[in-house]
Amino acid sequence: MKYDFGMVGLGVMGRNFILNVAESGFTSMGMDLNKESVEALISEGGDTNKVNATTKTEEFVASLSSPRKIMMLVPAGKAVDSVINSLLPHLDKGDLLIDGGNSFYKDTDRREEALSKRGIHFLGVGVSGGAEGARKGPSIMPGGSASAYQYIKPIFEAVAADAWDGEPCVAYLGPKSAGNYVKMVHNGIEYGMMQLTGEIYDVLRKAGGLSNDELHKIFSEWNEGRLKSFLVEITSEIFSQKDEEGDGRLIDKILDKAKQKGTGKWTSQNAMDIGIPVPTIDIAVTMRAISALREERVKADELYDRPDVRKMDKDELVDWAEQSLYFGFICAYCQGLHQLAEASKEYEYHLDLALIAKIWRAGCIIRAELLEDIMKAFNENEQIVNLLMAPDFINKVNGTVGSARKLVLYAMECAIPVPGLANSLTYFDAFTASELPLNLIQAQRDYFGSHTYERKDKEGSFHTEWGK
Ligand code: 6PG
Repeated sequence: MKYDFGMVGLGVMGRNFILNVAESGFTSMGMDLNKESVEALISEGGDTNKVNATTKTEEFVASLSSPRKIMMLVPAGKAVDSVINSLLPHLDKGDLLIDGGNSFYKDTDRREEALSKRGIHFLGVGVSGGAEGARKGPSIMPGGSASAYQYIKPIFEAVAADAWDGEPCVAYLGPKSAGNYVKMVHNGIEYGMMQLTGEIYDVLRKAGGLSNDELHKIFSEWNEGRLKSFLVEITSEIFSQKDEEGDGRLIDKILDKAKQKGTGKWTSQNAMDIGIPVPTIDIAVTMRAISALREERVKADELYDRPDVRKMDKDELVDWAEQSLYFGFICAYCQGLHQLAEASKEYEYHLDLALIAKIWRAGCIIRAELLEDIMKAFNENEQIVNLLMAPDFINKVNGTVGSARKLVLYAMECAIPVPGLANSLTYFDAFTASELPLNLIQAQRDYFGSHTYERKDKEGSFHTEWGK
């Protein structure tokens, strides 16, 4: 017999994904150089006619039906190239290779170009939802050749998460590296939302004196309302998790140094390259870097006095916090989607932002009730470049920005860092200001470097001999 689908890389993500494919009715073959991973899949799969695995490349490739559909779920970077190189001699023209990892979009462009010369189709596909998502239904973001996507479409539609309306959270997004690019920005938004959630936690525990039980309750309540989202839901559960090693809650035992694998940083770096402001995401990356400097932070903490926390009404603070988090989440989506709109032009991805919001509604890490409204906003007017211009979002922001302002001021007064929220607010204030002081920067540039400036009252480029 020949199997419908092949998976290289049987780590947690690969194993869960292939089990999901097999369970959806497509016979599947896995491959991993690690014998234990192969055995684990065979034993978990149960029936080798439905899902099987091997350590041998040749056997793996030969077992797949034509055109072969082979997905790789291996760490981004060199591992992807080495898997491609090991498979290539055994593949036939017309076979399809799919990279499901968090690959850098430029690597995907390079790989697609090289493989198309050999007659092999290549798709760079973002897969979000972690291990559980891979097993039960991820959000899948495919990019590459539209015709090659047709081969894998039935499988992806069967395994992807379904939104509440039964729509699968997968859709062809665009040519070349569109899928990896969209997944990169998804992760940038993820970084922003996580940083904002952390700041709200910090204000509530340090200034509001809320216990983990109270935090659990509040986040659970928020998850019943407009803040309903995967990240708010897991945050509420985190606060109630007991420490198995001893007394108390696990959250209080976890070292406050956040690691990162690069997708957030790439989002920020590329946003700078294409000239789109994403300060909520930028600061989220920076805060991970500050968190990593723990030894220095601990020493510096002893060198400076901190102002006393001014007590305020707990209910009022919780109310501000809810509104601030909502406002911050909107800003994170706004910035990421604006970046996607620009990248779509810059890299000719032809992205459909409503479609992207649609497939983010379930399965992925940034899934949230808000995405339903985002999808509607782009469906109503696909020309909006920034969500802050959408009528529904003008109302949402007007209703929450005042509390975000109060919370930022209060946190600053108490010396609790809330840069994600402050950056979101500053982004909003700047993006909605018809007058910014950058006229002065233009004057300074022209003063010291004859860089010229434009004028409000007439067209053209001007230079002044300043001070003369
Ligand atoms: C997802 C996640 C996933 C991964 C992050 C973690 O969508 O399922 O984003 O891809 O957990 O990349 O990234 P960091 O290690 O950089 O936090």
